[in-house]
Amino acid sequence: MADPRHVAIIMDGNGRWAEARGLPRAAGHLAGREAIRRTVRAAVKEGVPWLTLYAFSTENWRRPKEEVRLLFNLFEEVLWEETPELVKEGVRIHVIGEREGLPEGLRAAIEYAEVASREGRRLRLVAALNYGGRREILRAVEHLVRSGLPVTEENLRRGFYLPEMPDPDLIIRTSGELRVSNFLLWQAAYAELWVTEKYWPDFSEEDFVEAVRAYRTRERRFGGIPQRQG
Ligand code: IPE
Ligand code: IPE
Ligand code: MG
Repeated sequence: MADPRHVAIIMDGNGRWAEARGLPRAAGHLAGREAIRRTVRAAVKEGVPWLTLYAFSTENWRRPKEEVRLLFNLFEEVLWEETPELVKEGVRIHVIGEREGLPEGLRAAIEYAEVASREGRRLRLVAALNYGGRREILRAVEHLVRSGLPVTEENLRRGFYLPEMPDPDLIIRTSGELRVSNFLLWQAAYAELWVTEKYWPDFSEEDFVEAVRAYRTRERRFGGIPQRQG
């Protein structure tokens, strides 16, 4: 089967990775940063044109304040520090999710990354940050109502955070959890799912390649019947 055009990843298990080592959860989030680097590299190598990484959900605000603050600081640092290298590699960065409520510094880093990487043509890297699928759908409905356009799927999409983003073909989740946790609810309608027991900080380039390979063997039917030859 064809290569995936869009791979989206629910990066889960940072906390458990750390706990298993007797480390604070923060250490897991820091280690997760390396896994992000490896994954971006793998996506570029595999020629995947769109990669979305779920970094913070609208429900993650339920965590202790210190953890939320640590995550936001980490995202800010990663955006400032990694963007120049990503730009060199031809990566274009987008961030989807609610900007309101995010700290000023993080918002500035997001704007910097998006503007600085604007010419990237090799890979579209989308960070889902303060993102919730339900929130995105509500936003799109609001947009649609205000526009007065007919209620069609196409017009609804205009109100999504990144209307040109294709639906994910493959959704990967680490740490063995079998749920979608409010990720790309509308867009995931026909996504293929691939789950690994590994915690996110242990996710490797090989794991990414394995998931893409598994995807290629899947038969997507979109509600139809299997295509048979001859
Ligand atoms: C990282 O994993 C995902 C984020 C929300 C940043 P977790 O922090 O959810 O790790 P676990 O699931 O508690 O192990
Ligand atoms: C999903 O992970 C959100 C991100 C990866 C950012 P969670 O750890 O928040 O999901 P639940 O709470 O286990 O469903
Ligand atoms: Mg988790």
